[in-house]
Order: sequence, then C-alpha cells, then structure tokens
Amino acid sequence: MKIIGFSASPRKEGNTAWIINKILEGAKEQGAETRSWYFSDLDIKPCQSCYGCKQGELRCIIKDDMQKLYDAMEHADALVLGSPTYMGQMSAQAKIFTDRLFAQYHPRFSPQFKEQNAGKKLVLVFNQGNPDAGMFQPYYDYTQKMFQLLEFDVKGVHVVAGMRNGPAHERKDLHTVMKEIGSALVLERFPE
Ligand SMILES: Cc1cc2nc3c(=O)[nH]c(=O)nc-3n(C[C@H](O)[C@H](O)[C@H](O)COP(=O)(O)O)c2cc1C
Repeated sequence: MKIIGFSASPRKEGNTAWIINKILEGAKEQGAETRSWYFSDLDIKPCQSCYGCKQGELRCIIKDDMQKLYDAMEHADALVLGSPTYMGQMSAQAKIFTDRLFAQYHPRFSPQFKEQNAGKKLVLVFNQGNPDAGMFQPYYDYTQKMFQLLEFDVKGVHVVAGMRNGPAHERKDLHTVMKEIGSALVLERFPE
C-alpha cells in the first residue's frame, strides 16, 4: 500500500510536518510504502480558472510542482493531508492545493464527474493553537463533506488542539495517537 502525506504548512519542521510524519511512521510499521511532501519546498501556483483541464487532454496546463503531486497521487492508495488551522480554516497553501485538485478530480458538481476517485482513501488532519478541539468543528465537517464531493473516501478528520501550549513533538500523548492513525489506515480499522 502506498501512502503519501502532505504538509501544508510554511514551517518544514513545524507541528503539521511532525504530525504527518508520525502518521506515516505508524503506516510504515504496518508495511506501507510512504512519502512526505512539504508545501514549503514546492512551487504550487493558484488555479488560473482557464478550464484547460476540462478540454483536450484533461490536464492542468500550469507547469509547476503540482505536476509531481498529480503523478504521486495517481500512484498512491491513500493520502494524508495535514494543515495548520489559520483563521479557523485550512492554510492558504492547503487551499491552493485543493483548488488545483479540480484539474485531476472532477467534483460531483462538475459536468465531467465520473466517480473515478471512489476508493482513494484520504485522512485529513488539522492542528490548531487553541486548546478547544471543537471550536472550528463546523469548518472541519464542511471540509470533510467537500472532499467527499470530490469522491475521496474520507477515512477520518483529526484535530490536534492546544499547539499554543507547546510543540507537537513534546506532547507524549500524540506519539502513539498519531501513529495509530497511520496504522489504522493500513489495517483498515476505522471507527464506525
Ligand atoms: C496566520 C495564522 C493564523 C492562525 N489562526 C489560528 C486559528 O484561527 N485558530 C487556532 O487555534 N490557531 C491558529 N493559528 C495557530 C496555528 O494553527 C498553530 O500554531 C499550528 O500548530 C501551526 O502549525 P505549523 O507548526 O505546522 O506551522 C494560526 C497561526 C497563524 C500563523
């Protein structure tokens, strides 16, 4: 099983990257092949709304690092998208990436919708400074719904709260909990 993780934070050594790598570590221990991508290292431009992807070869015409991610996603069985919470939402980096998925994945609300993504597993993981994990729940629920409309098989939306009290790597409880998310993804053990 191939699992790729995306860290949509400008901080390569920040909380999001640590969380993604712990999840992938748990998956690797169960035999998965894993790879992390850091948006801080990548040049990903915003969607230009040219609709080139809906004509001809059905590909995004912007030649930037997103092309590498399209390729990686095509060959992956599961994706883990991690974002810091910024102003109660995903980071700008995560949003640019999500908009660019329009080129490869046809949402239910688009005329080209083909149910082609059914089965591509996705785990979303947010981390926020505020210790109240429920504070932005309506947004996290909405985001899950949006990825489901893109036909991803969303296997969980996790919220790591309280980052203002110290970095993720110092939180002993998170080591096991994050690894278990990765392990559950491989072993297909999800809460009902
Ligand atoms: C621009 C900006 C906006 C933020 N907005 C929120 C927010 O709305 N709610 C919250 O709880 N934390 C907020 N935070 C805190 C981050 O979510 C938190 O520090 C996170 O762990 C950062 O992840 P990173 O280390 O991967 O960059 C914000 C931080 C920044 C820089």
